[in-house]
Amino acid sequence: MATPSRTQKQIAERYKGNLGYYKKVHPWRRARRLVSVVSIFGGLIAIWIFQTRSRETFFNSGKISADHASFGDKCASCHDKALMTGGPLTPQKFRAIVKERFQNGIAFGLIDQKCQTCHTHHTFHEPNVVQNRSCSACHQEHEGPGPMKLVASSNCASCHNNRETMEASAQKGMQFNWAAFHRHPQPAQRVVFEVPRPPRGHTQVFSSFWNGHPEFQINSAKPRDPDVLRFNHQRHFANDIPLVNGRKLDCNYCHKPDGEGRFMQRISFAANCQACHSLQFDPKNPELMLPHGNATAVRAFLRSLPTQYADLAVKKGITRSNEIQIFVAKQIAQLRERVRSGEDFERQVFFTTDPYKPQRQDNSPTRSSFYGCAFCHEVKPVANTAPIITKPILVDRWMVRANFDHAKHSSVKCDDCHHATQSHDTSDVLMPTKANCVTCHSPQGKVVAECITCHTFHAPPQTAIVDLSQTPPISVKQMMFGRVSALR
Ligand code: HEC
Ligand code: HEC
Ligand code: HEC
Ligand code: HEC
Ligand code: HEC
Ligand code: HEC
Ligand code: HEC
Ligand code: HEC
Ligand code: HEC
Ligand code: HEC
Repeated sequence: MATPSRTQKQIAERYKGNLGYYKKVHPWRRARRLVSVVSIFGGLIAIWIFQTRSRETFFNSGKISADHASFGDKCASCHDKALMTGGPLTPQKFRAIVKERFQNGIAFGLIDQKCQTCHTHHTFHEPNVVQNRSCSACHQEHEGPGPMKLVASSNCASCHNNRETMEASAQKGMQFNWAAFHRHPQPAQRVVFEVPRPPRGHTQVFSSFWNGHPEFQINSAKPRDPDVLRFNHQRHFANDIPLVNGRKLDCNYCHKPDGEGRFMQRISFAANCQACHSLQFDPKNPELMLPHGNATAVRAFLRSLPTQYADLAVKKGITRSNEIQIFVAKQIAQLRERVRSGEDFERQVFFTTDPYKPQRQDNSPTRSSFYGCAFCHEVKPVANTAPIITKPILVDRWMVRANFDHAKHSSVKCDDCHHATQSHDTSDVLMPTKANCVTCHSPQGKVVAECITCHTFHAPPQTAIVDLSQTPPISVKQMMFGRVSALR
């Protein structure tokens, strides 16, 4: 420790004639007092002036997002003006605001109501949700001038990974009439395969896609493809399947992407089957084909065979009417050698499942095939009229709860996900399993696997079921500190 350069005595000596120091007016000290007073009162006055006179933007806690920039300066669009400026500040009001801020964080309830003045059609998620989140839990404002941040998976996990919440939702869901609720509505013309909601709902608890997310219900529930159309994927990749336009049959011959490339177009007989299964019925006249798609039209066609043969004669360049008659008579006579009667012939056309094998030496460009409708269809006889063909059900969507996009997966082979080349039966459901996705959508696979990569949150407008005013949402702070139970 350094020794002091002067003794106490020497120091005292210095103040000897100056004992009234603090009683004297000193310009520096006076200035200091003035500054203190001015800053305290000036501050108070400034608060008063800003509260009543200045632009509200002064209080801005951060830049408003690009989505709301057009009215970012009109704070009252989102904030209740009465709290900041309107009316005198009574002690009760002051206490209420302080209590609100310190206990619950920001008053989200009021802001939420403001959000909903513009976003009127935003309904919440599922009818059995026990405690809704505030809009601002997921969509945060004042975070900078860009677009609002994407919704984090932790927001979803705050329910989906909370056993208490999901158990309560499962209980509540049991009392609810789900018939009214369709969170993923589809256009009427779209055929959707809907696995019924399980008794306890989709309430399994899990933390992430790659860890605990349930296997897709379409696989775990083991449903059957309801289609009665006979189709054997595997058979159509065998070696004896003829080339079409010089190419071997591949998935894309039948499954063509739709306009956006997101899903596949529906299969049609004309575009995907007719090239090989061309509905010929007379081996001697392979040019002549049955119309497809309407049993009554087929029956009418068969009952007007003389006219059909006459038309064919004209197409073949026969013009004289007696020659046409001779041609028609000859064809009918040849046909009679194969079939016993008109009824018998109709029965063959509709009900033969085993195809009449075409002659190998036949060198017509399309291979002749003489199948009955029952080769592909379920056909039910009806007395004295055309049989009923059970309409094939070609499903357009299999997993409506997720938003898959084929275009984003064009680098993956179709069969890696669908395993169609091993499928014999139409009743096989060829949908991928969760494991197919996790290879990429996981930290190991290095492709995003946030909940919102695959799912949406909001129910569409017409399914309005939850009224915010009845179940006040909770703030982030309440959630974090568990001030209120997440259940009610
Ligand atoms: C688009 C809606 C919106 C607009 C416009 C908006 N805010 Fe906010 N503000 C919010 C939300 C939501 C919060 C809650 C916290 C959060 O999400 O960051 C908030 C929080 C705040 C907070 C801190 C929390 C508190 O005590 O209330 C202040 C201060 C604030 N805003 C001031 C302003 C001012 C000043 C303006 C006008 C320049 C403004 N805000 C415009 C949505 C908005
Ligand atoms: C004064 C009307 C108004 C209020 C109040 C308002 N918004 Fe908006 N919001 C808009 C408009 C307009 C857009 C831009 C719409 C667009 O781009 O399609 C928008 C966009 C959004 C978007 C992004 C839309 C997108 O397509 O990505 C979100 C999320 C959003 N608002 C949430 C909120 C939340 C949360 C609140 C309350 C804190 C709120 N809004 C308050 C009018 C409003
Ligand atoms: C407030 C609680 C809560 C939050 C937050 C929440 N969910 Fe849910 N969610 C539920 C409940 C409860 C169900 C079960 C519905 C049932 O019983 O069938 C559910 C069901 C689902 C389903 C399956 C049912 C369907 O029709 O799609 C998906 C997918 C889903 N949530 C995704 C999300 C995503 C993505 C988020 C985050 C953006 C999210 N959830 C946030 C409570 C919540
Ligand atoms: C490239 C030609 C080609 C196309 C296109 C084609 N098939 Fe086939 N299909 C065949 C051949 C060849 C056979 C074997 C015929 C036989 O056994 O006599 C066959 C067999 C079948 C069988 C019998 C399968 C079995 O297991 O015995 C059915 C049913 C069938 N096809 C339905 C269809 C349907 C429906 C379409 C359109 C979606 C279609 N096919 C498209 C060539 C084709
Ligand atoms: C090679 C298989 C195959 C044969 C043989 C076949 N169909 Fe079809 N049929 C299909 C396919 C595939 C569809 C569904 C796609 C479509 O409508 O084009 C279909 C659809 C239909 C439909 C429903 C049309 C609609 O509007 O939904 C009827 C009716 C029908 N076929 C009748 C017949 C009749 C009658 C025959 C016999 C003359 C026949 N089919 C022979 C494959 C076949
Ligand atoms: C990464 C996995 C993946 C790959 C690769 C993939 N799919 Fe799919 N596919 C799916 C999923 C998931 C669905 C269910 C989507 C739905 O219906 O909601 C689906 C649905 C389908 C459907 C039925 C629904 C529809 O869109 O018509 C067909 C057909 C189909 N895929 C064919 C193909 C073909 C052909 C290819 C190759 C060009 C292919 N898929 C590649 C995952 C995949
Ligand atoms: C890579 C895509 C993907 C990701 C990431 C993902 N999911 Fe899913 N999820 C699906 C598919 C596909 C289904 C099946 C949809 C169907 O059956 O219609 C599904 C089904 C569900 C279901 C219904 C489960 C049941 O019981 O059948 C819930 C709930 C769900 N997801 C929530 C979430 C949540 C929460 C997250 C984020 C932690 C998440 N998902 C992440 C693709 C995904
Ligand atoms: C000759 C036409 C044809 C070819 C080629 C073909 N499909 Fe299909 N596919 C169909 C028909 C018809 C259906 C509807 C009947 C059914 O569900 O089996 C179908 C249905 C599907 C479905 C719907 C899901 C399901 O469970 O029914 C998927 C997925 C699919 N095919 C994938 C493939 C893949 C992958 C390939 C290539 C390896 C392929 N298909 C090749 C005709 C074809
Ligand atoms: C080979 C790797 C791979 C596999 C396997 C895979 N995905 Fe993806 N997926 C991707 C990539 C890459 C993207 C694009 C990510 C991006 O845009 O940032 C993507 C994007 C998506 C998207 C977002 C589409 C959009 O509209 O932006 C969904 C949903 C999705 N995948 C679901 C699935 C499902 C369901 C499966 C399993 C059936 C699956 N993926 C399997 C690589 C894969
Ligand atoms: C649990 C998280 C969560 C909550 C709470 C939430 N959102 Fe969203 N919001 C999302 C997600 C995720 C999306 C992306 C699209 C989707 O999932 O529907 C979204 C999209 C939006 C969009 C833009 C897309 C569209 O559908 O037009 C608006 C606007 C929006 N939300 C407003 C609101 C409002 C207003 C509230 C409060 C009433 C709210 N959100 C509450 C998660 C949430």
